[in-house]
Amino acid sequence: MISQTVTKLCYKNKAILAPMVRVGTLPMRLLALDYGADIVYCEELIDLKMMRCKRVVNEVLNTIDYVATDDRVVFRTCEKERNHVVFQMGTADAQRALAVAQLVENDVAGIDVNMGCPKEYSTKLEETIDLVQRIQRTGVAAVAVHGRRKEERPQHPVHHDVIKAIAESVSIPVIANGGSQDHIREFNDLEKFRQTTNASSVMVARAAMWNPSIFRKEGLLPIEDVLKEYIKYAIRYDSHCSNTKYCVCQMLRERLESPRGKRLHGAQSNLEICEIFEMAEYYQEVIDCQDTNLIQPVLFSLNSRRDYPPQITPKMILIEWCRKQKLPQPVYETVQRPSDRLFNSVVTVADKKYTSSCWDKTKKVVEQSTAIVCLRSLGVPEGKLCDGETPLKHKRKRDDDILKCMNSSQCVIDTVHSTMLTEPERNSYYLWPLFITLFP
Ligand SMILES: Cc1cc2nc3c(=O)[nH]c(=O)nc-3n(C[C@H](O)[C@H](O)[C@H](O)COP(=O)(O)O)c2cc1C
Repeated sequence: MISQTVTKLCYKNKAILAPMVRVGTLPMRLLALDYGADIVYCEELIDLKMMRCKRVVNEVLNTIDYVATDDRVVFRTCEKERNHVVFQMGTADAQRALAVAQLVENDVAGIDVNMGCPKEYSTKLEETIDLVQRIQRTGVAAVAVHGRRKEERPQHPVHHDVIKAIAESVSIPVIANGGSQDHIREFNDLEKFRQTTNASSVMVARAAMWNPSIFRKEGLLPIEDVLKEYIKYAIRYDSHCSNTKYCVCQMLRERLESPRGKRLHGAQSNLEICEIFEMAEYYQEVIDCQDTNLIQPVLFSLNSRRDYPPQITPKMILIEWCRKQKLPQPVYETVQRPSDRLFNSVVTVADKKYTSSCWDKTKKVVEQSTAIVCLRSLGVPEGKLCDGETPLKHKRKRDDDILKCMNSSQCVIDTVHSTMLTEPERNSYYLWPLFITLFP
């Protein structure tokens, strides 16, 4: 259970994981914390995208998820990082920034506004100092400074003298950043960089991306060990395969040309990545554990009329699937709630029951919703247009009313009963819960 207490973050004498797109997701943040980072930033997330997200408590993974309208998880966090994670947003609008901050404030330890893409104002030292002093007057808790000019690339030397001048011109903590290329090779270098810049704390991006054990006081660990720990978190927290692959590639660096690196390039799923690093057993353990112990609800929304073709219905697809599997036909138990006279339905397929959280005034809609839940749980395409042509298309009569209703409503649907989850399902949002409903 996620508790409600959040301690105020102190930015002095801290080793910090920098914000990094694609890299700074939950697995990397947790790993950096394990190795000794004090504060971890998430990747930059754009205000407009966040504002369209819904906050969902994911009881399967024990996380808080911010889920976009296309069901993708935009930001995932958990209790372990609650007092350490800083949410970085990309914004150019105060109202939107405030709205996003209010949306996430109870789940994170700090909020950061990315001003990192260099603007004209940051080209002159006096103007930069003036800007930082103005920022200080707004009441911010700290400023992180990446000591490079607009035209400079990450491989150019960092201007530690500029960071120092800024650190000495304000009273709030300044976090020195930009030292990965030339200065930071191991943990002790963080303190050296802090002293050189006279900053309060040090933030590390690339050196941590290449080997997150940079935060380990006792010294770096072999990358082979580190990347396995990373993969474990990626599986545990159901990271998208492309994200896992990207981070592991960054860790392998020059070893990417090895046979193993080449196999990694071709990997299409987290399972394949696990196989490459002899971790298939671990993968299976996690999946089995999630499968057997949990009744897994499904959440998804039907928010586009174009989602479903008019010619077929999910119920038809389910009947056809049962026929092909030589299973008895699906049995629907549809009940009406006396309080508001809305219907809900439970379908039984192969002795398992599936339902949705959709209560509707028509039996047809709830039965179709239930059929979708069942099909998705079984990993069967349910006839959405994006699934391509279905064999049933054109064969059945139109049922426009149902589909119109389903496509225009925002159904929130959950399923009961765990099924063997395949990876594409796990990576889609709709497997994560809104409700848990138990059946006897
Ligand atoms: C892969 C990658 C992604 C990055 N994404 C972000 C980001 O989302 N927000 C941000 O403010 N900076 C981002 N940066 C910049 C870093 O946070 C950091 O300022 C820069 O890499 C210099 O620090 P370093 O020398 O420790 O690498 C990114 C850098 C890298 C390498």
